[in-house]
Amino acid sequence: MSVNVELKMESGSQIGVVAEGTYLWDAAKRFGVRLPAECEGRGECDTCAVIIEEGATLLSGLTEAERERLSPERLAAGERLACQAKVVSGGNLILRPVQNTERAETTEETVTDFRKEFKQMPLDKKLATLVQLEAVAAFEAINVVANLPYVVFEKGLDLLAGRGRTLSRREREARRPAEHRPVAPPSVDEVKNPST
Ligand code: FES
Repeated sequence: MSVNVELKMESGSQIGVVAEGTYLWDAAKRFGVRLPAECEGRGECDTCAVIIEEGATLLSGLTEAERERLSPERLAAGERLACQAKVVSGGNLILRPVQNTERAETTEETVTDFRKEFKQMPLDKKLATLVQLEAVAAFEAINVVANLPYVVFEKGLDLLAGRGRTLSRREREARRPAEHRPVAPPSVDEVKNPST
């Protein structure tokens, strides 16, 4: 069954049709809109939050991640995490992204804000900030170098096993909400002795 989706952006509405089982984040992507996704769809941030204006009943139930990340007020206002909510039945769905003033900023947004702020700083504050950043960068560089052999080793193993592509597909699946993963069939022992 298909769903008519209207994604309301500041620049205008994107309208299209998506299939049942599509996550809202993927639906937006199909319309050419990349919603922010700081945690890459693991349900560990709220940057992909959207407000459902119509069609909330067409979506899968709230996941644990959504209950954790979105306050009762935000849930009551119709917010969902686009990487956690998927379309489960046909109809009309209208949604819009939550503005970055109402949710956590992505790293990219923080960098942009910092650039603007930095531009407006007086020279002495700019210099002090640069010294601070230099110290942080040096510390991070030491950490990276210290961990490098392990990273290279792990990558090497992945390549040897030829798992590159499969891995990314598996990773994507692994990021899906636990509530949406297929339930494993019972083992022979469980069937024979249901009480165990
Ligand atoms: S991308 Fe982080 S919760 Fe959806």
